[in-house]
Amino acid sequence: MENLTALTDQALNLVDNASELAALDQIRIDYLGKKGRLTALLKTLGTLSDAERPAAGAKINAAKQRVQQAIQEKKNHLEREAIQAKLAAETIDVTLAGRRHSRGGLHPVSQTMARINAIFTAVGFTIEQGPEIEDDYHNFAALNIPAHHPARAMHDTFYIDRTYIDGTTADQNDVTPDDSPVREPGRAYRDYVLRTHTSPVQVRTMENREPPIRVICPGRVYRCDSDLTHTPMFHQVEGLVIDTAISFATLKGTVDQFLKRFFETDVPVRFRPSYFPFTEPSAEVDIQCTHCGGRGCRVCSHTGWLEVMGCGMVHPNVFTTSGIDPDHYTGFAFGMGIERLAMLRYGVNDLRLFFDNDLAFLQQFQ
Ligand code: PHE
Repeated sequence: MENLTALTDQALNLVDNASELAALDQIRIDYLGKKGRLTALLKTLGTLSDAERPAAGAKINAAKQRVQQAIQEKKNHLEREAIQAKLAAETIDVTLAGRRHSRGGLHPVSQTMARINAIFTAVGFTIEQGPEIEDDYHNFAALNIPAHHPARAMHDTFYIDRTYIDGTTADQNDVTPDDSPVREPGRAYRDYVLRTHTSPVQVRTMENREPPIRVICPGRVYRCDSDLTHTPMFHQVEGLVIDTAISFATLKGTVDQFLKRFFETDVPVRFRPSYFPFTEPSAEVDIQCTHCGGRGCRVCSHTGWLEVMGCGMVHPNVFTTSGIDPDHYTGFAFGMGIERLAMLRYGVNDLRLFFDNDLAFLQQFQ
């Protein structure tokens, strides 16, 4: 019985000091389990006399119950503590100020593009798109710019490795020094470029649709050129109108009305003779300087005018190449730089601001 008291105190002491549920379980096994130390005492009852046995048995069972109860209480206590700790760790201070989530907005170039699209679709134009990785044929040849034509030099083209139709790519050695293709029997190839303008979409439209055609083609274009006023990627909108009675007057009226709507003023517009291989006659279009009102300033290089687009009557060769009869149809085309129009409309003086992703700049347009 001395042993019983000592073992009981020992067990209760251990329970008292236990700080983890696993430790409590170990104590239960050590003292109350099948081979536990208090359980073992019950097995010694056989050595006692009949008179002593009931009282001793009752004492041992009472001790076991005390330890069992202590374990249970400690277990409840530890579990409550664990929950409290978890709650404390997960506390949210609902009185703290929230984190601001700013709302996104359209980039000024996208806004300008949407504005141009809206002006043209309102008068019956539809929108066409074409690939940015374009073949030589659509970017140049079909636009009356054959191989070695000097106009190619003005385009600062990004060339893509020559791709054979069988899927293999040629290396530089397949190209002769004057850049004419090495023709290998049985290996058809196509030269690809990053399109240097949106004019190839004109060609694709003529290939796929019958006149009358009234489309605009907005999108990205690429030129290997980078300085204050040029970025390697920029945006253009192409316009193409083909019907039976389209004249240069139709072109002038359309462009003039567009520019007045776009700038929301009665801005003076002038047409200057120019040259593009795919239009004849060709012109460049100027608006009166939005900065100085025509008096002459740094923005317009003291000319009073700002160039905003190229245009002209579709060249008969371009019609013929794409299967449209130039004796029956006439048409005009124009192409303009979207960044340039955005800069003039918003008074932005550095093209690179559009591509820096500076939120302070971009948020002014929201
Ligand atoms: N594609 C010409 C350029 O990028 C612009 C243009 C388009 C000119 C259509 C005439 C007609 O400079």
